[in-house]
Amino acid sequence: MSKRNILITGGAGFIGSHVVRLFVNKYPDYNIVNLDKLTYAGNLANLKDIENCPNYTFVRADIADLDTIRAIVSSHKIDGIIHLAAESHVDRSIKDPFTFARTNVMGTLALLQAAKEYWETLPEKFGGKMFYHISTDEVYGALELTHPEGLESPFATTASSSDHHLAFGTEFFLETTKYNPHSPYSASKASSDHFVRAYHDTYGMPTIVTNCSNNYGPYQFPEKLIPLFINNIRHRKPLPVYGKGENVRDWLFVEDHARAIDLIFHKGKIADTYNIGGFNEWKNIDLIKVIIKTVDRLLGNPEGSSENLITYVTDRAGHDLRYAIDSRKLQRELGWEPSLQFEEGIERTVRWYLDNQEWMDNITSGEYEKYYDDMYLNR
Ligand code: NAD
Ligand code: TYD
Repeated sequence: MSKRNILITGGAGFIGSHVVRLFVNKYPDYNIVNLDKLTYAGNLANLKDIENCPNYTFVRADIADLDTIRAIVSSHKIDGIIHLAAESHVDRSIKDPFTFARTNVMGTLALLQAAKEYWETLPEKFGGKMFYHISTDEVYGALELTHPEGLESPFATTASSSDHHLAFGTEFFLETTKYNPHSPYSASKASSDHFVRAYHDTYGMPTIVTNCSNNYGPYQFPEKLIPLFINNIRHRKPLPVYGKGENVRDWLFVEDHARAIDLIFHKGKIADTYNIGGFNEWKNIDLIKVIIKTVDRLLGNPEGSSENLITYVTDRAGHDLRYAIDSRKLQRELGWEPSLQFEEGIERTVRWYLDNQEWMDNITSGEYEKYYDDMYLNR
């Protein structure tokens, strides 16, 4: 295995922490540099188990700070970038679109520019290695919900539920689907995707973009649906369901996404795009009932007793109705398969949040942010 110096941005966040862990453990010959600004969503406690590994370095920096990024890329002799740093929560983007444009668009552009300048100085131009940009299915917009009761999914995989092979429409997002973002979050991600492709088409930088469906699993910041609801059930707090709970999302276990990123980083075709998803569509309200059932069982509550916490609230503005990824290209060309069936993934996820209450309580109390500010800002 050749030695490499890989920069992973956003490694203190949810998906990034799983990618960093996978690479640090699987590739002892690689130097893994985790670059993260540690915004409210970044938490180094996500990486406690690997923080002392000799092939791991953490750098606190803002991707939009071009001079700093230039210095980091050249001092660590970076020959591959996996870019996950972003503002990622749709609800926050509705309240504060400018922060999303700054980080997701200008930040990605700064990172691209720093990568390109360093890449141009290398005799073998990154050795043909690439700038790998992690994006979302939300850039494609929303699909019709033509079958509200669901129909048998034509492409069920191991990630699908064992007794719930449903699709809620006949269309899926393909790599060729036209971009049509609706939220400030997805508009900012779409814009960054275009910049990445422009750096390939204009300057010849070796880039790859992947678009993944909703992830779930350990270490997700508890403002997102699944960890928020697990925590609220534990504290007997209301479960705010937007609208009628009819919106459909396509859920993939985060470690399966990390495995796909590893595979694509090493074997993906330069300048190509891959969609990542597990053909695992759920109407929000049905997913919420599965979570309630699982949490109640694991906490020893009477089955379904927390359903009375469900509270229907005003819908999210511009709430996309249905996302559903067609990931057959990735399966066909690179042989990727999700490893975990949905029931097992949800069970592992709920157990993890219930077993790691200190992690959760540190976030909800704001303790973790004070700690990092003391550590990094006041010295
Ligand atoms: P997250 O919000 O949990 O983590 C984002 C990380 O980026 C945090 O550690 C944060 O501190 C860091 N960050 C934010 N702004 C930064 C800046 N200016 N400079 C440096 N670091 C900064 O997000 P996530 O859910 O792990 O998503 C990671 C990536 O995957 C994002 O690009 C997101 O668009 C994409 N994605 C997420 C999902 C999902 O379901 N969560 C699905 C598909 C794609
Ligand atoms: P979220 O986890 O925010 O992911 P995204 O908006 O990127 O898909 O939300 C998942 C779905 O759950 C989405 O349709 C919005 C809905 N939702 C609620 O109904 N209540 C909530 O409190 C949250 C956070 C989300």
